[in-house]
Amino acid sequence: MPQQKIISILSNKGGVGKTVFAIELAQSLGSLGFRTLLIDTDINTGDVSIKLKLAYPLTLLDFFQKTVDDLSQLAQKVHSFYLVPGAGGHFEFANLYYQQKMKFIRSFRRIAQEFDFTILDLGAGIERTTLDFALTADLPVIITTPEDIQTGYGCAKAAAVRMRELDRNMRRKQPDYPLREEFSPWFVFNKAADNLARGIFRGVEKAAEVTAARREAQIVPRYLGSLPEEHHVIEKAYFRQHLPVTVAYPRQKFCAQMRLMSRKITGQFLPQSSSENLSPLERVFQLFRSEKESALAQ
Ligand SMILES: Nc1ncnc2c1ncn2[C@@H]1O[C@H](COP(=O)(O)OP(=O)(O)O)[C@@H](O)[C@H]1O
Ligand SMILES: [Mg+2]
Repeated sequence: MPQQKIISILSNKGGVGKTVFAIELAQSLGSLGFRTLLIDTDINTGDVSIKLKLAYPLTLLDFFQKTVDDLSQLAQKVHSFYLVPGAGGHFEFANLYYQQKMKFIRSFRRIAQEFDFTILDLGAGIERTTLDFALTADLPVIITTPEDIQTGYGCAKAAAVRMRELDRNMRRKQPDYPLREEFSPWFVFNKAADNLARGIFRGVEKAAEVTAARREAQIVPRYLGSLPEEHHVIEKAYFRQHLPVTVAYPRQKFCAQMRLMSRKITGQFLPQSSSENLSPLERVFQLFRSEKESALAQ
């Protein structure tokens, strides 16, 4: 089994397939025998429960409103994975205070230790809270469709810039703090044939070279895979049966691609990574802690 790992799913744009991918990845990793947790962290339109037609009395909103103290009180078993349900359309959820972010990161770090994989389904966009949650992951995944590749790459650039900002802030407070050299997201191309996706990915690699030459950011993109457009199957699974496609129609090409990506992810973490390096989550956590300390000192 790998060490516990955190995967964040992000994109600059809504409707590109983040939530579908997050659910299918959780289900695929779960069915491979890994203890997997999906946290619906989309603070604007959390809709995992809607897609799967699940109704829970408590959601992440209750955690932020202090009705529950710990994320583990919210985790529910769904098919082969566990879910911390989110909530959409709540002003206070979409505009978290610093203390709430801290509390979330602390609790999220605790609960991630109980799982092999923890997946964050994030909201669209590149505002600070979303990027900070995304950068706590060991494995950030950017999902894009072929036509949205420019905003997809924009998301990688924004995350790389925010990562540098976080690290530099830490370095100012802690001179021996190790700066990360590069941001290395995985790319998933949704609604794309694999050969088209690989072609676009080569374009992403070239764009990353230009970004590095301009000294804007060091991005090392990695190819995770592609998912075919399968409207009919997805509609039947999600809108009629409220099931992941990998549960309802496991023989579809879409599911074969999901299994391929899940195996690539699990293979990535064997053998285990060195515990000497600070994990991304520890970095963001440390930064928040030291920001709080300096705020208190003022
Ligand atoms: N590979 C695909 N083929 C066909 N439809 C898809 C595919 N992936 C996602 N969709 C559909 O696209 C819409 C947006 O997907 P969703 O996962 O909610 O996006 P996001 O979370 O990025 O906003 C949904 O209606 C979903 O069913
Ligand atoms: Mg979504």
